[in-house]
Amino acid sequence: MSGGWFETVAEAQRRAQRRLPRSVYGALLAGSERGLTYQDNLDAFAELGLAPHIADLSAERRLGTRVMGIDIDLPVIISPTGVQAVHPEGETAVARAAAARGTIMGLSSFASRPVEEVAAANAHTFYQTYWMGTRERMVKRLERARAAGAVGVIATVDWTFSNGRDWGSPWIPEKLTPRAALRFAPQALRRPQWLWDFVRSGGVPDLTTPNLATDGEEPPTFFGAYGEWMQTPPPTWEDIAWLRDQWDGPFLLKGISRLDDARRAVDAGVSAISVSNHGGNNIDGIPAAVRMLPAIADAVGDEVDVLLDGGVRRGGDVAKALALGAKAVLIGRASLWGLAANGQAGVENVLDILRAGLDSALYGLGHDAVAQLGRGDLWIPDGFTREFGSPHATRVDEADRVLAGIA
Ligand SMILES: Cc1cc2nc3c(=O)[nH]c(=O)nc-3n(C[C@H](O)[C@H](O)[C@H](O)COP(=O)(O)O)c2cc1C
Repeated sequence: MSGGWFETVAEAQRRAQRRLPRSVYGALLAGSERGLTYQDNLDAFAELGLAPHIADLSAERRLGTRVMGIDIDLPVIISPTGVQAVHPEGETAVARAAAARGTIMGLSSFASRPVEEVAAANAHTFYQTYWMGTRERMVKRLERARAAGAVGVIATVDWTFSNGRDWGSPWIPEKLTPRAALRFAPQALRRPQWLWDFVRSGGVPDLTTPNLATDGEEPPTFFGAYGEWMQTPPPTWEDIAWLRDQWDGPFLLKGISRLDDARRAVDAGVSAISVSNHGGNNIDGIPAAVRMLPAIADAVGDEVDVLLDGGVRRGGDVAKALALGAKAVLIGRASLWGLAANGQAGVENVLDILRAGLDSALYGLGHDAVAQLGRGDLWIPDGFTREFGSPHATRVDEADRVLAGIA
């Protein structure tokens, strides 16, 4: 095996920590406040048991599936993550790895590499957008993504600008000015391999967001773009339906926790939803995504593809999420640890680990295809699930309006 190969995602994380400057590693770890949600995303998967058979097993297993009309070889999709300075090739390396393993690349609008380069590396690139800026600017960004070859959109609407972590937030400069470089130098010099990779590739990270520039303007800085986003009034459900109408193709709404929101998302015409708490980086105290998944999958799984993201580190986690009703999962940190540890090969390594673990789970559970996974494959502890809101929200609201004489 090559020296860069690693055995588990946990090892990729350890290598990422050893390789990255402290601030960059801290930005990847993220999480918010006490880290309750971050931790619950991991703990909840560990609470679920798998119930294997020992005979009449399938000699061959099919791990591919179809999500939002796209055939993928593995029910694991790259979740969009807006982080800078992880690796000189950044999201382009991730996109190549996802293409090599036959899956979809989610590209954050806060990513470090331009959508043109990323979509050229992966024919199944989805462009992620927040509700930020004017409608005109949002449309221009989507038009640019479409022209670049992106085939789908991920709209992420769960962010609440929460900040502060009990373990401290990393220092991230607005720009790598000489003064900032001087302050950053002690961290960077302790990570010579990371520094050398950037120097060899021709420069230092520029900390801009190329995918948020429109009309040929200079790419805004990360914090400049964050400012535009913070000043944008939050979207209504009509706004979300409007955004969906701007994209003729697959549209994933990411960040659903509640049954009523899942119902409204379906009514807004989305192709898929992701049950998600933003990987524990948002309001702290939201339960693990996998606890909220079963009720949401039961409520709307026949109408849209239900996905999940948050806490997936093993192939067994993928099997558990699918058994509880997800069509596929998205991975955030796992792909970032792989990228930091070993570039494109590291992300391929992570996808291979998840593939092998999912395949073993399917083998033991006696299935020959991922679609056969179901709740009978799991031991689910009492009180495991969390359910918020009513799946009939829209109709109840309408009834209320009729009763109130306003409809
Ligand atoms: C460092 C970091 C940056 C992220 N940036 C974005 C982003 O720009 N857009 C987005 O939709 N989600 C973003 N997310 C959330 C991920 O897409 C995903 O929901 C989350 O990472 C899933 O949890 P996991 O990391 O445990 O897999 C980010 C997550 C992390 C850890």
